[in-house]
Amino acid sequence: MSDAQKALDAARQQIEHAIADQSKRPSIAGFFDEATNTISYVVHDPATKEAAIIDSVLDYEAASGRTSNGSADLIVEYVRENDLTVTWLIETHAHADHISAAPYLQEKLGGKLAIGRDIIKVQNVFGKLFNAGTEFQRDGSQFDHLFDDGETFRIGALEGIALHVPGHTPADMAFIVGDAAFVGDTMFMPDFGTARADFPGGDARELYRSIRRLLELPEETRLFLCHDYKAPGRDEYAWETTVGQQRAGNVHVRDGVTEDEFVEMRTKRDETLAMPQLIMPSVQVNIRGGRLPQPEDNGVSYIKIPVNAV
Ligand SMILES: [Fe+2]
Repeated sequence: MSDAQKALDAARQQIEHAIADQSKRPSIAGFFDEATNTISYVVHDPATKEAAIIDSVLDYEAASGRTSNGSADLIVEYVRENDLTVTWLIETHAHADHISAAPYLQEKLGGKLAIGRDIIKVQNVFGKLFNAGTEFQRDGSQFDHLFDDGETFRIGALEGIALHVPGHTPADMAFIVGDAAFVGDTMFMPDFGTARADFPGGDARELYRSIRRLLELPEETRLFLCHDYKAPGRDEYAWETTVGQQRAGNVHVRDGVTEDEFVEMRTKRDETLAMPQLIMPSVQVNIRGGRLPQPEDNGVSYIKIPVNAV
């Protein structure tokens, strides 16, 4: 049996245990950021009050280049009100549409900053694109921990397992905690479909395989998404669904859609999409673990824009 298959089987088993035993299920709070359509999560073990924060958002005003902490402070407030101890600050991938607030939250709340091991590939791609100097280490050392496919972790007494789900970017991970899977930018709500696969290092064929792998988890698995944009005929934002619902009705990857059909649809659709408004600042900061580029000799950090290169 391949290591990938073993990891999937372990994830399936963990979810089945949590479905059978409520004490193995996490409490989950979603925080929706309307400016970037991102959902951040605080996931905690009700028994020990240990928590992980997944995919946090630092507010960023593009025109002025100003950051602020309003969204992140909502999370700080929630953590303090519920008396939680943060042990993990997890990124599902290096986001291209918002800046991570993980370093700010780490300073306020503690916890280990973690992302998938293939962030190193993403650092190499974007290190070249932005002509980052040698001070930019391309070894993942900006993070406290790099997750491998199938790696287990704990949030208090809860079991977690990381699955590598590349395609949107080479480094995307899904994080399963109890019966819940935080799937990052793989699938969106069934009526909206899937994440784009046209960023540097993205691959629609890989994305299809990653999604179908996630859809082999038990049907009752709760899926928590990283983004929502509503959808034609839906006026409310939504970010929770299940494997069963995705298999039955996802407009891009429901059961019966072949890999070639998906790749053709995804590639055509991606050609029509504009780059996210905040891709330049987001990527430059997020590949540094959410820290701004080294300040210049006047003490100011600068974001670069490569002209005619993307
Ligand atoms: Fe993304």
